[in-house]
Amino acid sequence: MTAATDRRLPSAEELRALEELAIDVAAEAARFVVERRAAELQVTTKSSDVDIVTVMDSRSQELIAARLRAARPRDAFFGEEEAADGRTDQAPPGTTEPAGSGLTWVVDPIDGTVNYLYGFPQYAVSVALVQGDPTVPGAWRPVVGAVADAVAGRVHHARLRGGAWTRTVDGADEPVHVSDATDLATSLVGTGFGYDAAKRGRQARALAELIPHVRDIRRGGSAALDLCHVAAGRLDGYYEMGINPWDMAGGWIVLTEAGGTCTGAQGEPPSSDCVIAAAPGIAEALTRAVDSVVDLVRHP
Ligand code: IPD
Repeated sequence: MTAATDRRLPSAEELRALEELAIDVAAEAARFVVERRAAELQVTTKSSDVDIVTVMDSRSQELIAARLRAARPRDAFFGEEEAADGRTDQAPPGTTEPAGSGLTWVVDPIDGTVNYLYGFPQYAVSVALVQGDPTVPGAWRPVVGAVADAVAGRVHHARLRGGAWTRTVDGADEPVHVSDATDLATSLVGTGFGYDAAKRGRQARALAELIPHVRDIRRGGSAALDLCHVAAGRLDGYYEMGINPWDMAGGWIVLTEAGGTCTGAQGEPPSSDCVIAAAPGIAEALTRAVDSVVDLVRHP
């Protein structure tokens, strides 16, 4: 990791408070998007006809940005809905010291937007605090994460060296741990597909090579929840080529604090090129399997 990433970490006590802030904000935004879904389901498209953004993505992000700005004016903010311009270092409006803390909130206001559109109950709000520059692979890591499973009303959360937990609807924290899988052939593996038709075709060809080597495949439609499913042993592994920092930041720390591994292809750090999440007993085998197909996706 770079010098930027090595900046002073918040103390254990500060991290605990930041984790609570992430949980509160993610849970509030999740309730907001669920409650308003029926009334405000207006859709526009982004990179392709199937890459959608709903009005509620933008409203959810506004709500999250406002809450974080009020609580943490010195942190930078990087949310999916203005990320197209590639800026990450701007301070939230109204602050005088851009990223004075060296920390950035990386936010997906609705992960699983297509599921949200259809009412398929797998979508989440992901709020993570990261050290380093989230646009540079290998130059950042999450230190706090909260992934609110919007329909279930639960929040998966973690902070560095604080373990991984699920906050239930009753407000109780239940510990989360990866599965004890050791055999890839009997492992349940999640994956996902991008929005570009040609890339989806390449991802499907890679999957066709991989599927004979695992128990079965699941495509849930929310990368943030997929990572939390691996964290909780509901999946043994997950891989995807093409997800973004906001899709992975929150789930990444929940997963690693739950005992899982989160890497890229060929042992690289996780990035938009490739993310491989696994229970430790199958990490090596899943990485080898994904490494053997990753070029099918990278090169048209
Ligand atoms: C998408 C979801 C999906 C994954 C896509 C992501 P979005 O995020 O995480 O599971 O397969 O690659 O883009 O667009 O719903 O925020």
